[in-house]
Amino acid sequence: MPPVIDRSPDKRVYIKSYGCQMNVYDSERMADILRPLGYALADGPEGADLVVLNTCHIREKATEKVYSELGRIKALKLERASAGERMIVAVAGCVAQAEGAEIMRRQPAVDLVVGPQAYHQLPELIARVHRGSGERLAADFTPEAKFDTLPVERGGTGVTAFLTVQEGCDKFCAFCVVPYTRGAEFSRSTSTILTEARALADRGVREVTLLGQNVNAFQNDEGVGLADLIRSLAKIPGLDRLRYTTSHPRDMDEALIAAHGEIPSLMPYLHLPVQSGSDRILRSMNRGHTADHYVNLIGKVRAARPDIAISGDFIVGFPGEREDDFEATLALVRAVGYASAFTFKYSRRPGTPGAAMPGQICEAEKDSRLSRLQSLLEDQRLAFNAKSVGREMAVLFEKRGRHPGQIIGRTPYLQAVHVEASASLIGRIATVTIASAAHNSLAGVQVLETA
Ligand code: SAH
Ligand code: SF4
Ligand code: F3S
Repeated sequence: MPPVIDRSPDKRVYIKSYGCQMNVYDSERMADILRPLGYALADGPEGADLVVLNTCHIREKATEKVYSELGRIKALKLERASAGERMIVAVAGCVAQAEGAEIMRRQPAVDLVVGPQAYHQLPELIARVHRGSGERLAADFTPEAKFDTLPVERGGTGVTAFLTVQEGCDKFCAFCVVPYTRGAEFSRSTSTILTEARALADRGVREVTLLGQNVNAFQNDEGVGLADLIRSLAKIPGLDRLRYTTSHPRDMDEALIAAHGEIPSLMPYLHLPVQSGSDRILRSMNRGHTADHYVNLIGKVRAARPDIAISGDFIVGFPGEREDDFEATLALVRAVGYASAFTFKYSRRPGTPGAAMPGQICEAEKDSRLSRLQSLLEDQRLAFNAKSVGREMAVLFEKRGRHPGQIIGRTPYLQAVHVEASASLIGRIATVTIASAAHNSLAGVQVLETA
């Protein structure tokens, strides 16, 4: 029997996103799928007819957060049930993929579980819950079917948007769950990406960030790589700024490096995770590159685009990491000079090779290395921001600030800038003189001209 899908209006869905930007994109797309069924977005779980937790499995803490949130949701669900109303609870994302039906056993308040490559099946799954029969788990890896099914139209009103172009990972770094939760590398067809990007531009979006777990591994069936894709996107009127994340050092090819010097709308910012500066640890992590390879890559990128801001990801306390390995990481950081960075303590993930390795590092040592690394990276970040003071920068204004009369935007280097200026500038690019710099933001004065 085909599922009967409830299309009655005035239902409310609360979607909570954990983890990376790809989950943010997926959450937005789930809202796009549910809108035609009559679901409007709710700000909180109270009173919602459907609650979706779009989860992250990357570190132990991320996964545990989901179960504590589910405890709170269960209480709301019971309250609603005692009022004679129904709340459907769905777990989506990477925990859904990793733990599957186990989630429903551990927390029976969960009605359905849907993986990151299967969420186009949400309407059917919801119908089965209403009907009280049928499989309530969808965890197949069908990115192609997903992207073919997603509506072209996207909701939202923002000036900036994410656009997933690539999914999955074939790299199998020894610490990481992503290859297991997102599946193999898959790249979308050029035409579906361009159609989605044009629809975003028509809606007033001016900056698009292309997403993928390994976005620079993008290579679709038509043989189009990321540099070519960016070239095509750069021709869409209204899309003034393009970015992409996250990249892997092994996939940073000559064409993409050259694109940084050739395409004006490709913003001068590169997030290129390295994880460690020690070749011994990089080998044990199965990263497939050395510290030198990484530093040379950065040199090539800077030759193509000298002002580019470099960002990275680092893990401290991978099994077997000695003090000299950690010092090699600090040395790499000094050699590169980062504008921003994300730092993590190694988290032992069940089923990954790292979890079974000897030489697990104690928390206290991880804490100490993390704070030493963070302090160096924070100094670099402040130094990078301080270089902006006195300069004129093109700022794309995105929203109102916390204080009345203040608006917030970003420079090409992704620095946040706040300025006292008219809210009519939101959605526009203006030239701003930078007056002062802090770790997390710049203060601007004197908006000179707008575009
Ligand atoms: N595909 C991207 C990002 C994957 S996850 C890449 O290859 O860079 C984002 C970051 O989380 C990783 O870059 C890594 O620094 C961190 N991470 C992944 N697994 C981790 C683990 N088990 N413990 C701590 N940090 C981890
Ligand atoms: Fe994880 Fe490594 Fe793949 Fe990145 S490249 S998603 S860190 S396995
Ligand atoms: Fe987390 Fe999955 Fe993203 S594990 S970081 S939500 S790919």
